[in-house]
Amino acid sequence: MILITGGAGFIGANFVLDWLRGSDEPVVNVDKLTYAGNLKTLAPLDGDARHTFVRADICDRSAMDSLLAKYAPRAIVHFAAESHVDRSIHGPADFVQTNVVGTFTLLEAARAYWNKLEGSAREGFRFHHVSTDEVYGSLGVDDAPFTETTPYAPNSPYSASKAGSDHLVRAYFHTYGMPVLTTNCSNNYGPYHFPEKLIPLMIANALAGKPLPVYGDGLNVRDWLYVGDHCAAIRRVLEAGKVGEVYNVGGWNEKNNLEVVHTLCDLLDTLKPREQGGSYREQITFVKDRPGHDRRYAIDARKLERELNWKPAETFETGLRKTVEWYLANQEWVADVTSGAYREWVDVNYGGRR
Ligand code: NAD
Ligand code: TYD
Repeated sequence: MILITGGAGFIGANFVLDWLRGSDEPVVNVDKLTYAGNLKTLAPLDGDARHTFVRADICDRSAMDSLLAKYAPRAIVHFAAESHVDRSIHGPADFVQTNVVGTFTLLEAARAYWNKLEGSAREGFRFHHVSTDEVYGSLGVDDAPFTETTPYAPNSPYSASKAGSDHLVRAYFHTYGMPVLTTNCSNNYGPYHFPEKLIPLMIANALAGKPLPVYGDGLNVRDWLYVGDHCAAIRRVLEAGKVGEVYNVGGWNEKNNLEVVHTLCDLLDTLKPREQGGSYREQITFVKDRPGHDRRYAIDARKLERELNWKPAETFETGLRKTVEWYLANQEWVADVTSGAYREWVDVNYGGRR
């Protein structure tokens, strides 16, 4: 079986759901259930004996030791993290704790576990660390996309804490020979994305008749990848990646934020026209920029294509349409995750931007 951390979050849950659609290999899903973790996302797996959910914190060494001893996984796929840049600006401590200390604790537990394995179990064991392109910093308009050898230059507490975790993972390969793999991926979008991030936030606000808050001039560029494509890339790297290697994952889909919001508004205009008429574009509002806002991210994903034959299956147009359709069909999920604490976050993050 495999052990997943953070499998109640956006990408982890998509990964677990996709994994069990394509395989009968059981999954132990370890998640602390922070505000970003939602068991409703895993409801399709209720009663499925292939999925075991365990609520635990990756910073808890003895819990990690017991889980590894009990389930004896052949691989760990590590998604658990604090993942939102704006939250890292308001409260960086949780990011250092989970992303750096948590990854370190998990690595230590994994190292002790792996050291006791023998033969093919030891040979075949993998620790797959899921990371972000944000560790490489910000690109200028004409700069070449990030490759696996681009020097790290993280700019936010989020990316700095992810960079720290990447360095620890790298060190465990070089120092202890631990069989690690790292993937650095661009911005994901798709079903079950928590509506604090750009795409689901814009869909939720548009439908609620609220302003669509675009930071700064709206010209910051991100590379966007459909979450199912990211999950497929992780499966491929886990299956055939070379230990100790890093693979960049991206969609060849650079868009500035305004383009993304315009495309979303146009899709919604078609799929769910506004009752009062007019376009959702009328709800766009420019607000105060994010401090230290990285201007551009772009990923060169050729290594993954060349060495492991992975390419994204979705285009931005097909992926975004699927995503909007999913949100329209799953308003209950959105209502569920945006109750309570979410409202406080909206006040904290957007209150001061007007
Ligand atoms: P998310 O915030 O939606 O989910 C994170 C999950 O981790 C939640 O279920 C949360 O409960 C859990 N978690 C947090 N702290 C924990 C702890 N201490 N112990 C156990 N569980 C804990 O994040 P996501 O968007 O699904 O991202 C998953 C991973 O992918 C992260 O490592 C992130 O850095 C990376 N990543 C994300 C993107 C993106 O666009 N979302 C892109 C590239 C890489
Ligand atoms: P986000 O989804 O937070 O991802 P990241 O910062 O990790 O790339 O933001 C994507 C882009 O959208 C980023 O340039 C910030 C911008 N943005 C807005 O303009 N308005 C918003 O309300 C949010 C959440 C993000």
